[in-house]
Amino acid sequence: RPPQKKNAPQHSDPCKGCREVIDKVVARYSQPWKRQEDSYQKFRFQLSSKCHGFNKAIITKTNTPVGSKLVYDGEKKRTLQVTPEIFSTFIKDHPFSNKTWDTCAVVGNGGILTNSSCGKMIDSAQFVIRCNLPPLANGYEKHVGVKTDLVTANPSILLEKYGALMGRRRPFVESLRTYGDSLLLLPAFSFGHNTPVSLRAAYTIEDFESPTRPVFFNPEYLHSLALFWRSQGLKAVRLSTGLIMASLAVELCSNVHLYGFWPFSNHPHGLQPLTNHYYDNRQTKTKFHAMPAEFDLLLRLHSQGVLRLHLGDCP
Ligand code: CDP
Repeated sequence: RPPQKKNAPQHSDPCKGCREVIDKVVARYSQPWKRQEDSYQKFRFQLSSKCHGFNKAIITKTNTPVGSKLVYDGEKKRTLQVTPEIFSTFIKDHPFSNKTWDTCAVVGNGGILTNSSCGKMIDSAQFVIRCNLPPLANGYEKHVGVKTDLVTANPSILLEKYGALMGRRRPFVESLRTYGDSLLLLPAFSFGHNTPVSLRAAYTIEDFESPTRPVFFNPEYLHSLALFWRSQGLKAVRLSTGLIMASLAVELCSNVHLYGFWPFSNHPHGLQPLTNHYYDNRQTKTKFHAMPAEFDLLLRLHSQGVLRLHLGDCP
């Protein structure tokens, strides 16, 4: 090591230890991307024959009649028998059966979207999927867009931001306005404590006549998807919302574009520090998710031409 000059300015590495990992990812990503129809069809077939997302991802009156037994995917041994009251909150038909879209955008919440100018490109997709009720106004539009056809909501947000919908419910309904008449997808039957708050969300939307359409993840679909990814080498306790939505998109859309997926704390081009989300710096629970391992699998699909990851800024 060259001897350091006394009083020389100390440049701290903006990316302690991450440079090597990021350099490797960038090298894999830098190969020119080309859609590979065969690889796409093969992967889509594997996924849909194991998981049947196009008609099973969401609970409907058709696939889950009164009296059916729901088995929670996050809690071993917990089940629930569908009562007429719960049944009344299910949508009639599956929103995706017999439908495919040409282009879908799945928007993760990574800080890589900050100042990306990707809003227009995201909004140009036919079907736009977002995760966990992300903010879209106050300057974020330019970078993340506004179009939303499906948005997920983790019940933890309902607990933290809207008092579990036990008190005043109007602020929740008002916050849904940004998403128009999109589907609001809730994991109501993943953990026991998700069920009452998810049902309250559905009742609130109905009572306030909000145009948002609440729907519930089918725990059977989530279970089969977890098994699928385990068979592909993923060792995580829970799949991240982003990976679930990207998987569903592969079944539903011919061209899948992913934005906001970058689980590293520095930018791929320039290595400047990033916040975890484009709107805050709350950290992901690494105990449950394995986002870098998930990212590795997504990058593999990108390299195979099955889907397209967007890292960095948009033109
Ligand atoms: O539900 P979860 O807490 O996993 O998600 P989130 O933090 O609201 O972000 C939505 C999704 O974006 C995640 O599930 C990840 O798939 C993806 N994400 C990412 O790839 N990199 C980040 N730095 C943050 C989120």
